[in-house]
Amino acid sequence: MAANPLIPVEDLSPQAAEIDLARLAAEIARHDALYGEAAPEISDADYDALRQRNTAVETRFPDLVRPDSPSNKVGSAASSQFAEVRHGVPMLSLDNAFDEGEVRDFVARIARFLKLPADEPIAFVAEPKIDGLSANLLYVDGRLTLGATRGDGRTGEDVTANLKTIADVRPSLKGDGWPDRIEIRGEVYAPNDAFAAFNAAAEAEGRRTYANPRNFAAGSLRQKDAAVTAGRPLAFFAYAWGEHSSDFAETQWEALQKLKAWGFPVNDRSRRVEGAEGLLAAYRELERDRAALGYDIDGVVYKVDRLDWQRRLGFVARSPRWAIAHKFPAQQATTVLEGIDIQVGRTGSLTPVARLHPVTVGGVVVRNATLHNEDEIARLDVRIGDTVRLQRAGDVIPQILGIVPELRPADALPYVFPDRCPVCGSEAVREGDEVKRRCTGGLICDAQIVERLKHFVGRRAFDIEGLGEKQLVAFHARGWIREPADIFRLARDEAKLAELAQDDGYGETSIRNLIAGIEARRVISLDRFLFGLGVREIGEQTSLVLARAFESWAALKAACLQAAAEFPRPPGSNWPAPMRFRPASWP
Ligand code: IVH
Repeated sequence: MAANPLIPVEDLSPQAAEIDLARLAAEIARHDALYGEAAPEISDADYDALRQRNTAVETRFPDLVRPDSPSNKVGSAASSQFAEVRHGVPMLSLDNAFDEGEVRDFVARIARFLKLPADEPIAFVAEPKIDGLSANLLYVDGRLTLGATRGDGRTGEDVTANLKTIADVRPSLKGDGWPDRIEIRGEVYAPNDAFAAFNAAAEAEGRRTYANPRNFAAGSLRQKDAAVTAGRPLAFFAYAWGEHSSDFAETQWEALQKLKAWGFPVNDRSRRVEGAEGLLAAYRELERDRAALGYDIDGVVYKVDRLDWQRRLGFVARSPRWAIAHKFPAQQATTVLEGIDIQVGRTGSLTPVARLHPVTVGGVVVRNATLHNEDEIARLDVRIGDTVRLQRAGDVIPQILGIVPELRPADALPYVFPDRCPVCGSEAVREGDEVKRRCTGGLICDAQIVERLKHFVGRRAFDIEGLGEKQLVAFHARGWIREPADIFRLARDEAKLAELAQDDGYGETSIRNLIAGIEARRVISLDRFLFGLGVREIGEQTSLVLARAFESWAALKAACLQAAAEFPRPPGSNWPAPMRFRPASWP
């Protein structure tokens, strides 16, 4: 069992610490991998909290530091899709500061390390921390010869062809004075407008959408086909360099001017400032203007300006002593809870969703937020009509933090959670100690059908191009698709396809793409098939294990039938929940 993460680090016993470090290593590795696949499940703030706890536990118990400790790794490892490239100089990451105290400590630490007199001003460059992914561009004799992602910091992926499609990434350096050999580093990102336009078009066409501009940039850069990257609106800011055959500047500020002269976009909101007060002023200015920049930033990077001082300060573990990232807190707002909608999930779980009076949080209009489950509603004592405080941390769904009690209307009543499914009217029950109430309608419930179909065509299951959520819902509403087999029937149903061609929004090309997308998945690996069925408790990993163990659907089915015969459900048992099946091909 994992140690309770709520135990304060100072109260951990060595045994609990060891367990906690094992849990943190596994969790951080998992989130690194998800991040690498551009599919993160948690916000940057939550990820940082995991890493911080890991560091805190390791600091208290240095003997317990694991060989696979996350502190020894930077970001996610390179994947096998692209050739590996070793960076001339490692691409490190930055330590974080979360409040003014930590920024003052950072400045004081530098003064101490450099043994500067108390009144000696320290100049810094404060740069927006662009929320994209970093890239390393090797220029030899002024020509771009290699472009790579960061990867694990030492070794990245060769994405030269993809990087070359970005207009901001120059094939050759402008002007003169550049070292014969230089690695130029910066951030690949997607401007917010272009990202939103891409997602809107993708959704309309049933192609995959991305959760946020950073995932979009990462996903777009790591395409196998550079032509796909070329069609994506990516941009680049240069802000650093790695290996260089000769020195070209004495300060960070001067270096930024050089990068600009050589033809790179350099962020014009970077400031040269002095001391902690100067840094904090730059931070406040960027925090104020953040929503209007047109691209996401998640903090401000502070760098010691003098490069000779940077060299003296050097590095500790995975980050430089001369720089730090001052992160923005999650953005918060208050608004009125206008209603609570109940969403029925794939497995029948009922999730309450707060319907909010639209409010802008960090440049994004928020209309909904999850309330998770009925216990959460009770914990927050949130009632319709209440004014609620909410926060949006980077990419994740906005979170309701609490209510403003003074603003509660006199007639606001406690929320009564429904005990019937709002879609099919079946009883909704809580099993055992589960926090979720579930609709018992099984596949008589239209919501469960649609959600299971969505899961079936999803990226990690059958991954059917051209058949997105919108199309599924429409085809289900027409009565065309009620079970997975219907999808495959549709692709060969001339009458229905002809009918579709009469509709607005279905051009010949989209119908052809839809058919191709479906036909491409008639043959599929067993693990994807199993995962696609969306059976509770059979996630991606379990599907893989089952597929490896049984190798064929026939063998697995025979084993299931045998097990069912040998271990009948005990009378009165509520598990597995009794399901009513339509006479259909769902297993
Ligand atoms: S400097 C050794 N400057 O933040 C220092 N990084 O956590 C190298 N980032 O991997 C980084 N904007 O992807 C630097 N103006 C900026 C940045 C920046 C965004 C990202 C970069 C880096 C990460 C560090």
